[in-house]
Amino acid sequence: MCGIVGFTGSRQAAPILLEGLKRLEYRGYDSAGVAVLDSGDISVVKTRGMIKNLCEMTHDGADVKGCIGVGHTRWATHGVPNDVNAHPHLSNNGRFAVVHNGIIENYAQLREELISSGIKFKSDTDTEVVAHLLEYYGDEDAKVAVMKTAARLKGSYVLGVLCNDGRLFAIRESGPLILGIGVGENYFASDVTALIAHTKNVIYLDDGEFAELTPDKITVYDCTGSPVTKPVSRVVWDVEAAEKGGYEHFMLKEIMEQPRALKATIEPRIKDGRIVLEELGLTDEELRDVNKIVITACGSASYAGQVGRYVIEELCRIPTQVEVASELRYRGPIVDSHTLLIAVSQSGETADTIAAIRECKEKGARTMAIVNVVGSTIAKLVDHVVYTWAGPEVAVATTKGYTTQVAILDMLAIYLADKLGRIDKERYDQLLGDLQEIPSKIQRAIDLNTHVQYLAERYYQNRAIYFIGRNLDYASCMEGSLKLKEISYIFAEAYPAGELKHGTIALIESGSPVVALACYERLFDKMVSNIEEIKARGAKVLAVALEGDKRIVSQADDFILIPRSDPLLVPIAEIIPLQLFAYYVAKANGCDIDKPKNLAKSVTVE
Ligand code: M6R
Repeated sequence: MCGIVGFTGSRQAAPILLEGLKRLEYRGYDSAGVAVLDSGDISVVKTRGMIKNLCEMTHDGADVKGCIGVGHTRWATHGVPNDVNAHPHLSNNGRFAVVHNGIIENYAQLREELISSGIKFKSDTDTEVVAHLLEYYGDEDAKVAVMKTAARLKGSYVLGVLCNDGRLFAIRESGPLILGIGVGENYFASDVTALIAHTKNVIYLDDGEFAELTPDKITVYDCTGSPVTKPVSRVVWDVEAAEKGGYEHFMLKEIMEQPRALKATIEPRIKDGRIVLEELGLTDEELRDVNKIVITACGSASYAGQVGRYVIEELCRIPTQVEVASELRYRGPIVDSHTLLIAVSQSGETADTIAAIRECKEKGARTMAIVNVVGSTIAKLVDHVVYTWAGPEVAVATTKGYTTQVAILDMLAIYLADKLGRIDKERYDQLLGDLQEIPSKIQRAIDLNTHVQYLAERYYQNRAIYFIGRNLDYASCMEGSLKLKEISYIFAEAYPAGELKHGTIALIESGSPVVALACYERLFDKMVSNIEEIKARGAKVLAVALEGDKRIVSQADDFILIPRSDPLLVPIAEIIPLQLFAYYVAKANGCDIDKPKNLAKSVTVE
């Protein structure tokens, strides 16, 4: 969703702001703009559409002079995407320029109030109230105006504020904001990817804090204006990791990176033949105290949770439910101190997931998170955190984010089963052995690339594709169908194969494409029967099965055979051809793969 950057130093600000905005493009946006201060005047350039339009309008920033400024990519919430609604927004006296990520929930009331005191509005955005409030309180020192304004706002707001007296502020309430410490220059941004070309030394602001940046100093304050001492963290990601590296799309690059991402996630957590999850910070006694697990997340992260649920229940025999966060948060969840809430999130900034954690925490649940972004809101909010080490994920469609989440859930299940004494040594060792082989098996699944591309070219013209499977295969179906629909805009839906007869089979007619996952061997015969049933009604079946499954080869119209491993660990390899299938189908349809329409990478508003 919206991206924010800010810069102050002795170099020209606009090119730096534009470069930062480009690195935030992946978050999803529909307009962009910059505000730069020069000799007491703030110039604003903003436009609907792509950052490249902004670059053209400003000759890559060269036309906008000044060494201090803010930039923004907007993902429309209040008001259509157009030039006027694009950020930055200026106060009517030209003193303040504001960029904003989030939603100001009481904006209508504030707008009425400001209008009745004679203030004129130009845009339909919620953000513009901030610029006018700053002007309203602007007779005071700029810091006081910022504090008084922030105190009037309700909702989620990450703000960048540029004042025409040369002061620059960054304010955080319920959204991502990171401060970057340079040499003789300082920055802020929604995301470290916008900063890593300049600095790896960062400060993570907490909710309710704000910062003033000068070229030589960053001062962080709490909401009362008292200075706060913040630790400086070092970012481990490098610039290359956030670039395409010769691939046509980030999504393809990230698919290809999975063997490395899984190795980085799994390997350091296996020591002397044991899974070590000390970072979790849960004692054996606390683990034994858990009698219920609730997994919450959104989108693909919830499907990783679905895989985790099957594995945890089978190995640990602890009742485990998965509920999407947007439902859980409003459902009065039945949790208590014996419940372990596991939140799963790549970005660590998903608004619904944050709200669901807060809700369960309030009701006494012990909370943990599986997160990719260090220092993110979710990582800081929960009692216990385990990081996936996937590296930066830029494509909107998650790939390595998802598989590394599944890997952590698998490891957690094995670890917990061991702590609870519910797994014998032989099974433990066998699972551990297979876990260590995952990166190489994923590489073998990736090697199916050319074959999957060929298949995608046979299926890309269909307007609806169904996915069926049982047990863990069904969990993978949900993720496979989401991958396809979000980037190719083809209707794709996942059904438990056993449910076909209860309705869905009515949709099957001659030529209906069905992706049938038949990797879960314990129910293989059942899946073969389901495939027969749909074939009898004319379906065209693309089956995904395990290497050596001859019956599938003879039954399906097309097939993909993936490497074998322990049945509980198969979903990681199984999803690879489905990611590639979605990618090549979307490509054949000419879709904007890395930035699908209407979608944002990080969903920081409800
Ligand atoms: O950052 P998160 O993992 O919390 O994001 C959750 C979902 O928004 C995300 O998985 C979304 O469904 C992806 N676009 C799927 O590819």
